[in-house]
Order: sequence, then C-alpha cells, then structure tokens
Amino acid sequence: MNKTGEMSEVFMNVIRSRCSTRAFTSETVREEDLEQIIEAGRTAPIAGADYTMSHMTVLGDPEVLTRIREGCMMKRKDGTLVDPLYGAQTIIFLSATGPSEDCIEYCNVACAIENMSLAATSLGLGSVYLWGFLKKLRKDPALLELLRIPEGYTILSAFAVGYAKDPIEPHEPKGRIGVTYL
Ligand SMILES: Cc1cc2nc3c(=O)[nH]c(=O)nc-3n(C[C@H](O)[C@H](O)[C@H](O)COP(=O)(O)O)c2cc1C
Repeated sequence: MNKTGEMSEVFMNVIRSRCSTRAFTSETVREEDLEQIIEAGRTAPIAGADYTMSHMTVLGDPEVLTRIREGCMMKRKDGTLVDPLYGAQTIIFLSATGPSEDCIEYCNVACAIENMSLAATSLGLGSVYLWGFLKKLRKDPALLELLRIPEGYTILSAFAVGYAKDPIEPHEPKGRIGVTYL
C-alpha cells in the first residue's frame, strides 16, 4: 500500500468515474468481472463482523429478470413507463435479517453496494443502487418467491450492474455533502 499520504491516481480515477448508470446495454457481464464485483461486496465492512446478517442474491436468469422488469414498471410524471432495472442483465439483491430497531442492516448492505459499485467502476462497468422499485416488489409475493430469498431475510436494497451505454469516465460530481470542521 502507498504510505506517502497521497491517494493513488488510479483510486481517485475510480472515485471520480463512479456514477449511477440508468441505461445498460443488453450484454451480460463477463463471469470473471462479476465474480470480482461480488467478492468486493461480500468482503465489505459489516457491523460487528456478523456476516450472517446479510445475504446477496445474484439474478442473471433472463426469464426471472423479465418477470421482475414487467411486474415492477415505474411511471414517469408524464405517465410513460420506465424499466426499473434500466435494461441491466444482472441485478444483485441485498437482504438481511431484521431489520432491527436501529436499522443497522441498511448500513451493512449499503457498504456492500458501494464496494461493488467501486469495483464495477474500476472494471469499466456501469452500476446503480436500486431502491425505488423495491416497494412494488415487496408487495408482490409471486415475484418475491422467484428470488428465493433465504428464510428470515428481507430485501433491503438492490444493485444493477452491466455495460453502460454512456462512457464511464472521470466527471464533476452532482453535488457534495456539506462539511463542518471543528
Ligand atoms: C440509498 C440509495 C438509493 C438509491 N436509489 C436509487 C433508485 O432507486 N433508482 C435510481 O435510479 N438511483 C438510485 N440511487 C442513485 C442516486 O440517485 C445517485 O447516487 C445520486 O443521484 C448521485 O448520482 P451519481 O450516483 O451519478 O453520482 C440511489 C442511491 C442511494 C445511495
């Protein structure tokens, strides 16, 4: 690891290139790339190192993807329908036990998703955190059944990954979190 106190250019390029992709090609992700992304997610920080609290379900089955896509269509303000998966051929569902009163399970899955998002970016792939369409999915027992989420776990978030139609390259961020230095 670099001990000069400077972040590596490669690392900063990944941070600056990460973005939410909302238009994927129909190409499926190379297996070696997907495995590296999944590994990045599986080894993310987890509260109390209790890795049994979270679970990942990798969906690449085209039939199930179509059922979910069609069953969870989102409506734009102008009434047109949007594919909630943005055309992605791989969706990773993050489920967890609980959630407990302090909702720490959501923090765990978010860490896994961010690790995967950075891993995907470093491989030149697009990705996006998926939250909105889960409201519809949770209300549809037939669709939920297709995902075979382990007993006792609830889907908390999802992540789409694939080849982006637009280039993945360094860009100005959409905004910045405010900071107070004391
Ligand atoms: C917790 C969380 C939930 C999100 N849910 C969605 C979602 O359901 N659909 C979507 O298109 N983007 C979703 N996003 C992506 C954000 O809209 C996106 O990160 C933000 O607009 C900043 O843009 P950027 O990721 O391109 O930098 C979500 C992001 C986070 C962190």
